[in-house]
Amino acid sequence: MERTLSIIKPDAVERNLIGNIIKRFEDAGIKIVAMKLLKLSKAQAEAFYAVHKERPFYGELTDYMSSGPCVPMILEGEGVILKNREIMGATDPKEAAAGTIRADLAIDKEKNSVHGSDAPETAAQEIAFFFTEYELAG
Ligand code: PPS
Repeated sequence: MERTLSIIKPDAVERNLIGNIIKRFEDAGIKIVAMKLLKLSKAQAEAFYAVHKERPFYGELTDYMSSGPCVPMILEGEGVILKNREIMGATDPKEAAAGTIRADLAIDKEKNSVHGSDAPETAAQEIAFFFTEYELAG
């Protein structure tokens, strides 16, 4: 069964949207198999987003992601990597399809409420960044 990493980002945690977002995954038949609430350090955010280190927004993105608590989760289900990206919507909420998390809840391209792995290799890396083997529910 496929797995992916989802993060409820600091803007959504701050606005009490954890339940709203989790309900969308559960209603879509996706299982949450691991979850925690934590605050990334600046260095941890830089490591997680290292793939974007040459992008002009890297400093702002990593400041923002270390500005408050976030909720990383492992989602499981058939085709869940793509399914999660569909439920999330486009990076920029102005371009996100109606009914997606980002269209309904996100503020802008930075404060866009959720992150989701984009491929099997990144999903495996991102899951290992936040969770150890013994933290997986089964
Ligand atoms: S994608 O799908 O990776 O190509 O999207 P991309 O637009 O390249 O964005 C990658 C991540 O960077 C965040 N982002 C930004 N943060 C701050 N400021 C600006 N201007 C900005 N533009 C994009 C975006 O939310 C993506 O975060 P994640 O967590 O990977 O979804």
